[in-house]
Amino acid sequence: MRYLPTLQLLLVAAAPIRAAFSWKNVRFGGGGGFSTGIVFHPTTKGVAYLRTDIGGLYRLNADDSWTPVTDSLATDAEWGSWGVDAVALDPQNPDKVYAALGLYTNDWEPKMGSIVRSSDRGATWSRTRLPFKVGGNMPGRGVGERLAVDPRNSSIVYFGARSGNGLWKSVDGAASFSKVSTLANTGTFVPDPTDVSGYQSDKQGLTFVTFDSTSALLNGATSRIFVGVADNTTASFYVSNDAGSTWAAVPGQPKAYFPHKCKVQPTEKALYLTYSNGLGPFDGTLGGVYRYDLTNGSWKDITPVSGSDLSHGFGGLGVDMQKPGTLLVASLNAWWPDAQLFRSTDSGATWTRIWEWANYPEQKWHYGLNTDNAPWINAGFISQDTKRIGWMIEALEIDPLDSNHWLYATGLTVYGGRDLTKWDGPNRNVSISVMANGIEETAVLGLASAPGGSELLAAVGDVSGFTFKKTSDLDTPPMEPWMGPKFITTTDVDYAGNRPGNVVRIGNAQGAKEVAISTDGGVSWKAHPGASDTAHSGTAVLSANADTIVWSSANGGVLRSQNQGTFSAVASLPSGAVIASDRADNAAFYGGSGGHFYRSTDTGATFAAVSGALRSATAVRDIAAHPKIAGEVWVSTDIGLLKSVDYGMTFTPVGAGSLNNTHQIAFGLGAGSAWNVYAVGTGAAGVKLYASPDNGASWVDIQGDVQGFGNLSGVKLAGSGNSEGVVYVGTNGRGVFYAKGVVAGGKEEMTTTFVTTTVKATKTVTPTTATPAITSPVTTSAASAPSTATASTVPTAAAQHWAQCGGTGWMGVTACASPWTCQPQNDWYHQCL
Ligand SMILES: *[C@@H]1O[C@H](CO)[C@@H](O)[C@H](O)[C@H]1NC(C)=O
Ligand SMILES: *[C@@H]1O[C@H](CO)[C@@H](O)[C@H](O)[C@H]1NC(C)=O
Ligand SMILES: *[C@@H]1O[C@H](CO)[C@@H](O)[C@H](O)[C@H]1NC(C)=O
Ligand SMILES: *[C@@H]1O[C@H](CO)[C@@H](O)[C@H](O)[C@H]1NC(C)=O
Ligand SMILES: *[C@@H]1O[C@H](CO)[C@@H](O)[C@H](O)[C@H]1NC(C)=O
Ligand SMILES: *[C@@H]1O[C@H](CO)[C@@H](O)[C@H](O)[C@H]1NC(C)=O
Repeated sequence: MRYLPTLQLLLVAAAPIRAAFSWKNVRFGGGGGFSTGIVFHPTTKGVAYLRTDIGGLYRLNADDSWTPVTDSLATDAEWGSWGVDAVALDPQNPDKVYAALGLYTNDWEPKMGSIVRSSDRGATWSRTRLPFKVGGNMPGRGVGERLAVDPRNSSIVYFGARSGNGLWKSVDGAASFSKVSTLANTGTFVPDPTDVSGYQSDKQGLTFVTFDSTSALLNGATSRIFVGVADNTTASFYVSNDAGSTWAAVPGQPKAYFPHKCKVQPTEKALYLTYSNGLGPFDGTLGGVYRYDLTNGSWKDITPVSGSDLSHGFGGLGVDMQKPGTLLVASLNAWWPDAQLFRSTDSGATWTRIWEWANYPEQKWHYGLNTDNAPWINAGFISQDTKRIGWMIEALEIDPLDSNHWLYATGLTVYGGRDLTKWDGPNRNVSISVMANGIEETAVLGLASAPGGSELLAAVGDVSGFTFKKTSDLDTPPMEPWMGPKFITTTDVDYAGNRPGNVVRIGNAQGAKEVAISTDGGVSWKAHPGASDTAHSGTAVLSANADTIVWSSANGGVLRSQNQGTFSAVASLPSGAVIASDRADNAAFYGGSGGHFYRSTDTGATFAAVSGALRSATAVRDIAAHPKIAGEVWVSTDIGLLKSVDYGMTFTPVGAGSLNNTHQIAFGLGAGSAWNVYAVGTGAAGVKLYASPDNGASWVDIQGDVQGFGNLSGVKLAGSGNSEGVVYVGTNGRGVFYAKGVVAGGKEEMTTTFVTTTVKATKTVTPTTATPAITSPVTTSAASAPSTATASTVPTAAAQHWAQCGGTGWMGVTACASPWTCQPQNDWYHQCL
């Protein structure tokens, strides 16, 4: 075996450096993204972890809440660390936890993946760099676990890689890994070979590593190990009987489909496996559930449904360790009317379902559903749709030490309960609750805090967005997401400086009106009557008096509407321009594109470039107008910040080069009634989030060394318009963080935490920046968002009523038979209704 040199880096020293500010999450409360896996420790009660695709790893607490444990790892340089492709516990040591980190295996991510290990339940970590990438947000991210620790030898750790890299083994507790070349099948299936981005065309690799804890010891190691492989043509299930030295396909295995989960029931001396005809998480139209007898090697097909009822694959698999023969499996994915959960108490011979058809189309629910922990889940999703149990259910676990305690995760939230055995009585009925307290895994695309208006407006991917009226609301999950209209993903939100109750937001759907307006600070909304059905996404700003909206859309150039009239093109501002409105002067708007600055003095009707305004800058990253002072506007560029006090006619560089290469900037109320400026950029402490109390003369690192925000150039910033020293950071996967502190005289003075706690699985797609030519006509092709769903089949027939007609990864028919129309239910599922 060849041992690769590995980089071992102690990430957090024994005495951690205190964060400059103390950060916590704004509480959305329902998770809001895809949790890909849950693992319980087999022998120590209450030890469990949950992994997410873009929001890191969480540890379970005794009160059913969760604590994020990988925030310190997701620094700007290591932003892929919020992608968790696998997690493993050491059955012999409940304090140890391992995770495979990295977001993408294609060129969306610059870094190689890593395996991190902790001996203190995630408080501190050490990192081992792998010689290949890890894809926590790639297709097939819900299978597993791909990472496993030998139950009888803590030094032995296996990792089943993606991308054709095969099986890897550590004999030193994950400090170093070497390839197990004797397992020749590395899982070469790719979901879509035509996807040039490499996202759907990467090899799916291995799907799990499962030790047979009942097998003999061989030289101090568990001798029998099973590995799942993404291969539906030769074999997908392999075994080693000599502690990993040699491997062979398991005889008699099911040939079709991909194995997702494989669990040992030691008392039964049996394995249970779930299969789907796709790797997930969005697909799956066929599949099966199997039992493999470890004593005599016989297979039994225990698939709970057959015939035309079988229209989904199988993902989540919970095996009761206290009650041999009792198990739960989840459909993957039954998009209509709802997911199904199946339970057997006789090793899969017979099954019952959590819901059944009663008097069609009525359902009989053998469960109650409680969303008190995140009321918006009901208001915005469950009550709006037929799907209650969920979708994308790959994580489904029965607590190995408590047959009543169970957890499962969907594409939206985490559910669970503590009375699971009530399923088994004659009047079966279990209580399911949202159990995502502490999990905040949303992708935040826009933030605003309106002086004299709503404290926080958060535009969010996949779950629309939320309004928090006051600072005291920040720890209370909202009653509802932005609705009426509900955009699945909201790409931006803004308020009017002189009339802060007026708010605008933008949605990302194609073929619908994607502008909504509010006059009560984002509590209630209406669709903007002047929006077209074509333009979508991008950023929008309201004029100070709220009569005019300028919208830099993703696909329709820069658009403008006055008094809720029809949007028309603003030809004088390049497509994709960064835009801002003056907060005090209704006539003034600002724009930036490339290294050029533009200003409008006619309420956004026309913009003119200001020659040489931004010196040598070649990229405008952000523009912020002072919350109160007309004509004061700051521009963030690749050469740092420039400031104008004359409506953008002339600029002066800010801070004498002390903060360079800046990204998002924001004003926020500071001490007294002064305004702090917050900015992401390169300063004395490196690439960090800084604050200035003195108009940019001095900058203080308020991020500190223990709080990662992921990719810093992509975070969204807002300073509070109402509460001194409060600042918000919107992340791509960990929701909104906030902190309160005093920034004074170039030094932070206080770091008091006040009330608080916080994905989704989407890569946040940023529109490409257009060329700065002011004369270039508005083009609809300048900013086409790359799609990860490349249709490989030509639709032939129209889909029927209720059928799926679109969504991420959907490759089937997208037209609906008359009179039905294809309506997005969420990012992953569009339905003919
Ligand atoms: C655990 O496995 C390692 C690597 O194979 C071996 O060197 C060690 O002796 C084993 N430990 C025990 C206690 O057998
Ligand atoms: C393997 O799975 C893919 C995706 O479901 C499917 O298109 C293909 O036909 C399958 N191949 C076989 C041999 O079953
Ligand atoms: C294997 O054992 C199971 C009981 O676990 C039994 O039902 C099955 O018939 C056996 N199969 C063979 C081939 O012996
Ligand atoms: C199960 O309980 C819930 C309320 O907790 C109720 O809505 C549901 O109808 C019950 N199901 C059955 C089959 O009685
Ligand atoms: C600022 O950063 C840019 C890269 O964005 C670099 O070219 C320039 O040299 C830096 N300027 C200073 C003063 O460090
Ligand atoms: C970080 O985020 C920005 C803005 O979304 C994006 O342009 C950039 O590509 C990201 N950085 C990396 C390394 O992906």
